[in-house]
Amino acid sequence: MFSLFPKVRPRRLRKNKVIRDLVSETVLSKSKLIQPLFISDSIKEKKLIETMPNQYIFSKDDIFFEIEYLLSNGISSFALFPNIDNSKKDIDGTEAVNGDNFICKQVMQIKSRFPSAVLITDVALDPYTITGHDGIERDGQIDNDLTLEALNKMSLNLSQSGADIIAPSDMMDGRIGSIRQTLEDNNQKETIILSYSAKYSSGFYGPFRDAVGSKQNTGISKDTYQMDKKNLREALKEANLDIDEGADILMVKPGMPYLDVVKEISSNVSVPVFTYQVSGEYSMLQMGIDKKLFEHNVIPETLISFFRAGSTSVITYFAKWVAENYDNISK
Ligand code: PBG
Repeated sequence: MFSLFPKVRPRRLRKNKVIRDLVSETVLSKSKLIQPLFISDSIKEKKLIETMPNQYIFSKDDIFFEIEYLLSNGISSFALFPNIDNSKKDIDGTEAVNGDNFICKQVMQIKSRFPSAVLITDVALDPYTITGHDGIERDGQIDNDLTLEALNKMSLNLSQSGADIIAPSDMMDGRIGSIRQTLEDNNQKETIILSYSAKYSSGFYGPFRDAVGSKQNTGISKDTYQMDKKNLREALKEANLDIDEGADILMVKPGMPYLDVVKEISSNVSVPVFTYQVSGEYSMLQMGIDKKLFEHNVIPETLISFFRAGSTSVITYFAKWVAENYDNISK
């Protein structure tokens, strides 16, 4: 190796920023970032999420200002998560399948005000169940097939309300096929399914659960449906099942501790693969920045790691920050 020097000097390509940019293998682009947004059905004004610095739960009125602001700053895709008042929760998450529920109305209103905004809606029961589970509990277990019926209805309602992309995040078996069939049977042929296909049972979702109010978990563990963090090959199994069942896009989640999974899936499938840099990753970085452990440049560094690993787009709570600081960061 050393004998190649001085013929080979990798530093030639690092001489200045213009050259570095010419030879760079990835770019950070606003068009590749999706901002998650929490919306409450009951608060009057936006409220700071204590475990997520700079992130808010928006009221149904504040959300319009936020979306308008993000759109004008180059962020055009949004993942919406409802925070539902406890009085509307029950064991089955019945409110989730109400076609006239809060999130359906929000989707309709946002789309009518901002037709160019791309709306991604989560399909899972956790904002609506008193158990905080993504599925329906029966006899001390999360009942897979009973949950599918609810997910079908929920997906159809969201699609008919105008959601561009529906994103099942529940990890029930067979849900992609079942939802796709329901959409086709009801003439919702254009709706994109973004499947959370490698969703690991992770400790990094804590702040999100504060934001949607799903932390109460009963005795049942989410380990009984979300993936075991010890497995990589199983992620490929889930990915292939979801593609066969009709998913248009796959997702890996969380991001930073699962870069190998992003790489593995993106190298082996021919559909786009998104990564979700989840709430705990966000808070860890933002709190570190606030405490001056490191600087803001860790934000583009972590985002670029997803693209380098093969991610097509990224869902990140930092989308707004990137939009605001885009011209000043090394992309
Ligand atoms: C639940 C859902 C979760 C997240 C997205 N959808 C949490 C969970 O599975 O408990 C987490 C996202 C984040 O942490 O930012 N359907």
